Amino acid sequence: MAKIKKVGVLGSGLMGSGIAEIAARSGYDTVVREVTSELVEKGLDKIRGSLGKAVEKGKMEAAARDEAVARLSGTVDLAAFADCDVVVEAIVENLDEKRKTFGALDEVVKEDAIFASNTSSLTITQIAMFTKRPEKFVGLHFFNPVPVMKLVEVVRTILTSDATFERAFEFARSLGKEPIACRDNSGFVVNRLLVPYLLDAIRALEEGVGSVEDIDKGMQLGCGYPMGPFTLLDFVGLDTTYYIANIMFEEYREKRFAPPPLLKQMVLAGRLGKKSGRGFYEYAKK
Ligand code: 3HC
Repeated sequence: MAKIKKVGVLGSGLMGSGIAEIAARSGYDTVVREVTSELVEKGLDKIRGSLGKAVEKGKMEAAARDEAVARLSGTVDLAAFADCDVVVEAIVENLDEKRKTFGALDEVVKEDAIFASNTSSLTITQIAMFTKRPEKFVGLHFFNPVPVMKLVEVVRTILTSDATFERAFEFARSLGKEPIACRDNSGFVVNRLLVPYLLDAIRALEEGVGSVEDIDKGMQLGCGYPMGPFTLLDFVGLDTTYYIANIMFEEYREKRFAPPPLLKQMVLAGRLGKKSGRGFYEYAKK
């Protein structure tokens, strides 16, 4: 099979920009697509900023940064993806948007290219069926912050071909990540275990088991987790967690995935975590 040379990334939010950054750093020609030219510029700025920080911290040579920046481009036009070997989608978690995007993408991208979705909770099978190449479709689920977290879940559906899965697995390795193989069950491996844990922390708080700070300290110091559950909830975003939990609850109909009332209230109140300046903790404005 042809060598992977060019990577397309759909979306330049938190995850998309991270994925594009590591693709460009790993030597791939990388094109990022956003819906408006303002968002394209914003996304490219974010990536350049992050590469700049890596140089400042001595983790990257300035020359390597310049090469990575030269390999990066932005576009609003899906036609720029025509000669991509791999396309990774990291747009909003909305099935209709994914249907529209993959439907259009399927028409322009060369036939042997692999399509991947970074969705954290929607089923890959459903998204793959929006294209005429479900055998070339996988999940590539990255973790936040993408440049730091070593894991990528490589998700195969019952339609994914062995060749596609192996190619995607190797691609994840080539980005400097450690891939694991997962079946296409909502939440895959990590969120299947992480989401009930985070929701349970909120239930423990509701039941008065401990304070936000003490529950966090307990899990950090008692289990060696890098962040306690409330710090992690604020980091991931309470709206994102609420959204994922609802999808997983729909899928499994099990209480452990049901979002507790306090989570819903906080989302309704606009306390979304770090990104809104307040979640379980308050964050100083930048
Ligand atoms: N981009 C690039 N580098 C970053 C970064 C970013 N956004 N954020 C942190 N870093 C780097 C820092 O530069 C630092 O590098 P250095 O040690 O070489 O100087 C290193 O990461 C550690 O950062 P800090 O010293 O600032 O802070 P911490 O030691 O507290 O680490 C953390 C930060 C890596 C985020 C750590 O707290 C952690 O691992 N937290 C857990 C994160 C996690 O669980 N993520 C998964 C979320 S779930 C998910 O994504 C799935 C989705 O579907 C919901």
